[in-house]
Amino acid sequence: MFNKNFIFGVSTASYQIEGYTKADGRCPSVWDEFTKIKGKIADSTNGDKACESYIKYKEDVEAIAELGVKAYRFSIAWGRVIDENNKPNQKGLDYYIILCKELKKRGITPYVTLYHWDMPVWLDKLGGFLCDDISDYFEHYTDVVTKALNGLVKDYITINEPQCILFAGHRACYHAPGTYYDNKDMLHAIHNLLKCHGKALRAIRKNVKNSTVGFAPCSRPAIPQDPNNKELEKLCYEKYFELTDDEEFANTVSIYSDPVFLGDYPKAYYEVFKDILPKITKEDLELISQPVDYIYQNYYSGNYYDLVDGKLTKLPFHAGFPEGNVDWLQVVPETLYYGPKFLYQRYKKPIIISENGFCNNDVISLDGKVHDPERIDYINRYMLELERVSKEIDVRGYFVWSLLDNFEWSYGLKKRFGLIYIDYRNGNRIKKDSYYWYKDLIKKD
Ligand code: GAL
Repeated sequence: MFNKNFIFGVSTASYQIEGYTKADGRCPSVWDEFTKIKGKIADSTNGDKACESYIKYKEDVEAIAELGVKAYRFSIAWGRVIDENNKPNQKGLDYYIILCKELKKRGITPYVTLYHWDMPVWLDKLGGFLCDDISDYFEHYTDVVTKALNGLVKDYITINEPQCILFAGHRACYHAPGTYYDNKDMLHAIHNLLKCHGKALRAIRKNVKNSTVGFAPCSRPAIPQDPNNKELEKLCYEKYFELTDDEEFANTVSIYSDPVFLGDYPKAYYEVFKDILPKITKEDLELISQPVDYIYQNYYSGNYYDLVDGKLTKLPFHAGFPEGNVDWLQVVPETLYYGPKFLYQRYKKPIIISENGFCNNDVISLDGKVHDPERIDYINRYMLELERVSKEIDVRGYFVWSLLDNFEWSYGLKKRFGLIYIDYRNGNRIKKDSYYWYKDLIKKD
């Protein structure tokens, strides 16, 4: 049982569901380009069609209403609403205005993500997050969106998963645009990305009455193998926020969240990267750390740790450990206990889980239905852990990823995360068992 104002929601993202990538003057995004490169997408698909939510949004809103959630998190495609001359594109804006009106009609609150990875190609050509004007472009885009949606949207998430944008997009390069950044460029891009967040936040506060704002990083918490060992828990907390110069530093927590919530990069940042620091001014840090309302976080999995010979050691998952249909998604329900707990301890703000969900090898059964007990089991276990931690800290909401099966980035359309199955042959939607299970849970709670 969560408290009565708890926000149950579902989430999606523009490129993953909308399709109609050439409609109404939309400018191409880095994902349109990236998906054309041979070998980048496991099943060679792309988002050209996806769920066709650009025209099927009414059906989607209907399904959200029937589900009984109070909130729908979706993202805006920058390239639909701003043209290549950096001017507003009214047709693109109209799509989101109509979508929000449909949602409001049914009492569903829109939670709008401004950047869920579909950078317009023309901006990427200017340097993307390495361009020192990118935060001004982002502020302008935010200004246009918030004015167009004025009176319809008050809850904004500036940026989804900075870790994936920079680590997956510019270090490991399995995401768009796939251009490699060395450490110096990476630090520069991180700083510019945080300034994008800060300037967007400034525009939202200026234009939107009673706004709420946050950004939505992702992380895999370090989880104590022995829950009764308090010393181990303390070490896991430290591990979760640790920053070193390892290959994956752009994939960590504190390098983004400390500046936003605590007003500066962690001490280790200045020590580890002392010879390659970007230019950081007092004004930048004030901009980045303007107060936000929530700690949003996307959680899917975590890693167990134990003390081995007195040293904190990551435990390997044993063969056959339960996992989803993607290799990174081990079923570790305590993720939703320790993750929020550690975040709250450090940053002391209400928590909203902006994404959590399961990838399953779903099929249409002979009875015409989609039975996905594994997804139900996953969400159930994770929510029980969230409920447990909500007795100790301030947890405000939970969004399932995702409402619909959709284009799962480098894995393509083949990997399914939805509560609703998409039959890509004809665009038909089939509500899975997990959809009905989630519906019942919300009704009961
Ligand atoms: C997140 C991402 C979503 C979705 C999900 C499942 O990293 O924000 O867009 O793809 O993972 O993999």
